[in-house]
Amino acid sequence: MTEVSHQQWGQVCGRGAVDLWVLTSPQVRVEVLTLGAIIRSVCSRGSDGQMQDVVLGYDDLEGYLSDQRYLGAVVGRVANRIAGGHFVVDGKDYQLDINNGPNALHGGLLGFNKAIWFAKAVEGGVQLSHTSPDGDQGYPGEVHVSVTYTLQGETLTAEYQAVSSKTTPINLTNHSYFNLAGQGAADIYDHQMSISAESFLPVDNSMIPTGEIKAVEGTPFDLRKPVLIGPRLKEVPGPGFDHNFCLSSPGDTWAERHAARVSHPASGRVLEVSTSQPGVQFYTANFLDGVTGKGGAKYGKHSSFCLETQNWPDAVNQPSFPDCLLCPGEKYLHVTRFTFTTV
Ligand code: GLA
Repeated sequence: MTEVSHQQWGQVCGRGAVDLWVLTSPQVRVEVLTLGAIIRSVCSRGSDGQMQDVVLGYDDLEGYLSDQRYLGAVVGRVANRIAGGHFVVDGKDYQLDINNGPNALHGGLLGFNKAIWFAKAVEGGVQLSHTSPDGDQGYPGEVHVSVTYTLQGETLTAEYQAVSSKTTPINLTNHSYFNLAGQGAADIYDHQMSISAESFLPVDNSMIPTGEIKAVEGTPFDLRKPVLIGPRLKEVPGPGFDHNFCLSSPGDTWAERHAARVSHPASGRVLEVSTSQPGVQFYTANFLDGVTGKGGAKYGKHSSFCLETQNWPDAVNQPSFPDCLLCPGEKYLHVTRFTFTTV
């Protein structure tokens, strides 16, 4: 049985109230904000029975309003990068704002992560909905989007749906940063990581996939068997992992599949992730630089990891990548499950 409750958490000047929803099962407690459909905390038990909050976040609303790192948020209309912020749909050019080097990142300057979503209770959870107007951040079509978080025992499910009035690229994900030792722990070097991917996408120096779908075999990106993340990070070029791992091939049919398993031997905590999406961006918080988080914790580089289940980056410009266009009359559907257990 999951208990669901909510209360007002804060007020954004001129925009209204932000509520905090709490989902509690016997094993896990999850907090969700109506700002950005943010997962504010996930408390799970270690082998010793101790509850710890395993996601990064802020103590107050101000922290989330000024956040630049997408802590816990739903990211859209298009998560990840679009080369040059430019694409062509139905023969028409679209130019988005550039907010990450020469590219557009994570839905633009005022993406879904900064919207206040409408919340309603559902069995075992909360459904958050948002309307993104035609032309929002430069994207075509009015999009009605919802994310439904439900908690069943040890499993938190995020179900995304969207419809659009014009053909638009879409790519939704949740950008939670995890540390299974508990948020505030210095790093993730003692975590064991595995990702069920045979291939990954190499990127150019502005982090756009080159188009090559490269086998992980014989590279530091081979995480098919559990790997201790600290030593492996030393083998990865650049500041750490920030790459799309391919969970399926373009054209594969919709199917939910295992994406990743992370364990933290010292606490016994395990996180399993499954998804219907064709990729997962594995990101080792390379750009966190000492931001102050919950309880005054300082979040630094490699203090956490993200498993952003999604379509492949820049799919709108790369015809060989899985289709990311949502046409009028179609429905975007995406399911991701996070399961918190112990070894
Ligand atoms: C994603 C990107 C990273 C970074 C973070 C947010 O994971 O791939 O490069 O932009 O979001 O800071």
